[in-house]
Amino acid sequence: MSSSDDIHTRVTAPGGVPAMTAQGTPAAQPGAAAQPAAFASVDEVAARFLAHSYVCDRRTATAIHLAERLQKPILVEGPAGVGKTELAKTLAAVLGTELVRLQCYEGLDEGKALYEWEYGKQLLYTQILRDKIGEVLSGTSTLSEAVDRIGQQATAFFSEKFLLDRPLLTAIRAPHRVVLLIDEVDRAEQEFEAFLLEVLSDFQVSVPELGTLRARFPPMVILTSNNVRELSDALKRRCLHLFFDYPSAERELEIVRLRAPEAARGLSEAVVRVVQGVRTLDLKKKPSVSETLDWVRALTILSTDQLTPALAEETLNLILKYEGDIERAKDKLPELLAGKKA
Ligand SMILES: Nc1ncnc2c1ncn2[C@@H]1O[C@H](COP(=O)(O)OP(=O)(O)OP(=O)(O)O)[C@@H](O)[C@H]1O
Ligand SMILES: [Mg+2]
Repeated sequence: MSSSDDIHTRVTAPGGVPAMTAQGTPAAQPGAAAQPAAFASVDEVAARFLAHSYVCDRRTATAIHLAERLQKPILVEGPAGVGKTELAKTLAAVLGTELVRLQCYEGLDEGKALYEWEYGKQLLYTQILRDKIGEVLSGTSTLSEAVDRIGQQATAFFSEKFLLDRPLLTAIRAPHRVVLLIDEVDRAEQEFEAFLLEVLSDFQVSVPELGTLRARFPPMVILTSNNVRELSDALKRRCLHLFFDYPSAERELEIVRLRAPEAARGLSEAVVRVVQGVRTLDLKKKPSVSETLDWVRALTILSTDQLTPALAEETLNLILKYEGDIERAKDKLPELLAGKKA
């Protein structure tokens, strides 16, 4: 498999693409500031990611280049530990900006994702301002009169001072462009996905007490999914879609050389060879790139520059997390170490 074959890009249907200006660049969102292009070419994307120790194949680099120009989110799907989250982190580092991360989970709601009113602070202020509130209420004789009088002052308590920005609002209101990572979106419920679609379509939110808050610098957005559940077509349509599979041996070795440069070359090659073979076995949980890196680093700590059968057997637990999987791999170790298909 070539290094680009294991990642597939799909540019979504024309309906999802923002309106174009006569020059062929996307029309800026109303109120959004014009941004200079971050990358001149696909090659530049790949080179700058490599300079930040991220191996970015051509499909991925193309998606990033297009996402930046078209102001579209990227949705990255694939198994655990193949570099989805790291892509967003590296993008932020490459652009020299902050990463704003929204970690999704079951039960995640707008309050935790967008904004909340700081109830504790509001309460504290009302305690401290007890005398002032007494003055405001003076002269009222009925409960409804008092409620009306307090109502007239409500804006003081529902103002910027008491607004608690959560990741989506932080990204929208940032004073420059940030990278917004919406991680493991498949863990949140479908209703949350519908709400996300709204936010991602125009990067503006309406806070009833404050009005509409619009992004001056729309963030670059990366969503990741581990396929816990199928995502809606509507979300996929709005995004540039990437599928990250386990890397080819060539690409995995490149990652190991970059991320664990302290390891001997022969050791890194042997580890990649065995991990690639282990992935072809019928396992409960296949080892990911992070486990390959863990293994190489662990073996380096054990001061070895080659992978002997005995050492491989003793340390298989670094790449396999189930006893049954370890037993299965142990049986095949001679073939795996020799680089034969198990
Ligand atoms: N293309 C790559 N270039 C450099 N490092 C990589 C690459 N792919 C994976 N890695 C390494 O693998 C590690 C795990 O990647 P990451 O945390 O992004 O996985 P993930 O796909 O988000 O997994 P999960 O679904 O479990 O969150 C990274 O910290 C990085 O060290
Ligand atoms: Mg991740």
